[in-house]
Amino acid sequence: MTMVSDITGEALSRDPYPIYRRLREEEPWAWSDRLGLWLVSRYDDVVLVDRSPEIFTAHQENSLAERAMGRVMIRTDGDAHRRLRAAMDGPLKRRTVRERWSAALLANAEEIAGRLAARPGCDLVADFAAPYAARALTMAVGLPGTTVEQVVEWSGAFIAGLSNHSGDPAVWRRCELARAQVGEHVAAAVARVTREPDDTVISTMVHADLAEPLTVEEIASQIRLLFSGGFNEPWHALATLVWQLCERPDLAERSRADAAALDAAIEETMRWLTPVGAFPRQLAADHTLDGVTLRAGDKLLALAGSANRDESKFADADVFDPDRADLNDHLAFSLGAHYCLGAYLAREQLRCAVRVLWDRFPGLLVTSPPVFAGWMFRGPRELQVAFAGAGRE
Ligand code: HEM
Repeated sequence: MTMVSDITGEALSRDPYPIYRRLREEEPWAWSDRLGLWLVSRYDDVVLVDRSPEIFTAHQENSLAERAMGRVMIRTDGDAHRRLRAAMDGPLKRRTVRERWSAALLANAEEIAGRLAARPGCDLVADFAAPYAARALTMAVGLPGTTVEQVVEWSGAFIAGLSNHSGDPAVWRRCELARAQVGEHVAAAVARVTREPDDTVISTMVHADLAEPLTVEEIASQIRLLFSGGFNEPWHALATLVWQLCERPDLAERSRADAAALDAAIEETMRWLTPVGAFPRQLAADHTLDGVTLRAGDKLLALAGSANRDESKFADADVFDPDRADLNDHLAFSLGAHYCLGAYLAREQLRCAVRVLWDRFPGLLVTSPPVFAGWMFRGPRELQVAFAGAGRE
């Protein structure tokens, strides 16, 4: 049997769920020498970590996120965090998302689906979900001239930096280039919206009513953060959701007829295949739990991907079941001070995309099961679909 000390990023990336189950059962607070951090795997403990920033701070010394993207809100706490978050949240609030972005999301999905319509099928990840999520993000952020290829590259570079525990210099070179390029694009956008304010994220940050206005570099760092999580996660979730709906014609039928059923399928997708699998934190002070002492400065990962499969919280946790009673208790968007700022936009993206896909491709069919990879960030690498019910491979 694999011991905690033997757990590698590669094994977790292939399939983290059997490892998570063992951790929950045998060593819920597990120190991994190889990863150099604690792994926290039970639902209640992940909640405790997320709700106790005075013990488990989001600020990390020598943070990979900070090296990759600059001083990002997700690695700050307290007043510094509130200042950055308050400056950004306007365009991402639930009501604003519905009123301001829904129609544009539908139009975006229509346009991409329209271009695919002449084909017998496609890779839903590369051909639909990725360009759709990239455009949704650049639209909301306020970088409309950015290409899908740029978003894919920047996002990939930042995510590689976030996971660069081994310090690979090639990863840092790629990251630095992306960091500089995003910085240039943001600086140009800041100059534009300073003259002509609009309702995008960048403009909202430029004109935020703060005692100490944000610098261009502070804005650029937060936008880099959005390129890492705000792009990757919606397309991961969309591909998983479409796959699960295609696997369950009864559920697909219900979700077509009833918006609440589609919303339930979206939430269950988040729980069942949690796109952001782990929340990095650091011990602010020594802390002892269940006989285990963690020392000030120790790093840890609160494993949301494991918590969302914890049988002591979710019955038959490995089963995809949008009818479960505690559907909304999942931790896919976290629940503490760092609760995902893009959660409403992400959900709306999924709703709009699924509606358009069904309208355009009523016979949509998955032709081979997707292959998943990743654990800090997990999602399908591709999803081959046929549009006219052309049959399974
Ligand atoms: C399915 C899609 C998404 C998932 C699963 C997701 C998940 C998460 C999670 C788990 C966190 C907290 C991590 C932690 O506490 O360490 C987070 C934070 C954040 N997310 Fe998302 N996210 C998604 C989409 C988006 C989108 C579309 C945007 C913006 C356009 C966005 C913007 C942010 C920001 C700015 C934060 C940092 C909040 C803070 O530190 O206060 N996310 N997200």
